[in-house]
Amino acid sequence: MTPPGTTLAERLTRRIRLTGPMTVADYMREALADPEQGYYRRDDPLGVAGDFTTAPEISQMFGEMIGLWCVDVWSRMGAPSPVRLVELGPGRGTLMADALRAARLRPEFGAAVDLHLVEISETLRARQAETLRGAPLGTAPTWHDDFATVPNGPLLLIANEFFDALPVHQFERTPEGWHERVVATDPEGDRRFRFALAPPGPAIGLLGPDLLEPGRQAAPVGSVAEVSPAGIALAEAIGRRLATFGGAALIVDYGYGAGVMGDSLQALRRHRRHDPLVEPGCADITAHVDFAALGRAARSVGAVVRGPVPQGPFLDRLGLRLRAATLLDRATPEQARDIHAAVERLLEPTQMGTLFKALAITSAGLPIPAGFETPGTATSP
Ligand SMILES: C[S@@+](CC[C@H](N)C(=O)[O-])C[C@H]1O[C@@H](n2cnc3c(N)ncnc32)[C@H](O)[C@@H]1O
Repeated sequence: MTPPGTTLAERLTRRIRLTGPMTVADYMREALADPEQGYYRRDDPLGVAGDFTTAPEISQMFGEMIGLWCVDVWSRMGAPSPVRLVELGPGRGTLMADALRAARLRPEFGAAVDLHLVEISETLRARQAETLRGAPLGTAPTWHDDFATVPNGPLLLIANEFFDALPVHQFERTPEGWHERVVATDPEGDRRFRFALAPPGPAIGLLGPDLLEPGRQAAPVGSVAEVSPAGIALAEAIGRRLATFGGAALIVDYGYGAGVMGDSLQALRRHRRHDPLVEPGCADITAHVDFAALGRAARSVGAVVRGPVPQGPFLDRLGLRLRAATLLDRATPEQARDIHAAVERLLEPTQMGTLFKALAITSAGLPIPAGFETPGTATSP
């Protein structure tokens, strides 16, 4: 138990003094998920009054499109009952409530759904329960700390802005080769912490063949590479479930499709950039998602990977503009302004349309899921 008044920064400082600098991944994990003072253990971080806004909070259309996507995939799976519908990091439950409402067009779907929500925040669990009260479901939702405890069976899994919160290791290229970046204390500086480089160690093995290949070895000095073992392990676990029990996962997040290197670690507080090394636990810390790494992990265990495709074309193909047109028919002038603004924000390349991407992982034998069917987007047979 932490003595009252001790901040997370003070505890991490003491830990670094005792055991040495910590990896960026360890720092990120503590800052986000420390059981007492981690960012996601505190208040509701979403919305205008919080630190950031996500796609489902921008418009109901986002969750509705994903609900229809689920119904379509479920039908192509042979409409299994029960089907485990899983959401990783459901936030306020908005996406799931909108998805289930849209899915009412096939009432058998709601009756078949066994809903599992993977969420570490007690505050957000309570919020999700409230949002989903009265949702058209056969049984009440079950909450989990981890995907591992979700029961086996045919699976539909949704994760929006979840993988970006999983810890990343960072590596920096020096004239002597790659070194892991660590967080050290900074007794002389005006900040409590600073980044430093560790001597070469076994963690370099995390970089894997892609980053150690000859081309990458020639990366200029100062290049930064990121690896998320937690994200890769989770993609592998999802892929294994899908390969064994059938189904599909839809991962939407901001990130890159292939081979981009760079320091993408960022913190947000009250919708503004924040220094990730200042006041850990008080700001959201994220890193761009390496979709290629997730895809490789899922494919390595026998799942099929589609995409990633940019969010704009993906939502457009699912019919978001058509849905907007229907909503506009009944909208007041003020609502119409909001709908136009939401369409722009979700679809436009200069907003969320390109940086955000969708990746599907499916069992073998399922047709290409909706939104992924353009030539050139299939990345595995
Ligand atoms: C950025 S929010 C996204 C919320 C929601 N998906 C949305 O789009 O509005 C991240 C969500 O993941 C949850 N979360 C973060 N890290 C987690 C972890 N390691 N295990 C389970 N849930 C986590 C947070 O509490 C929150 O619900």
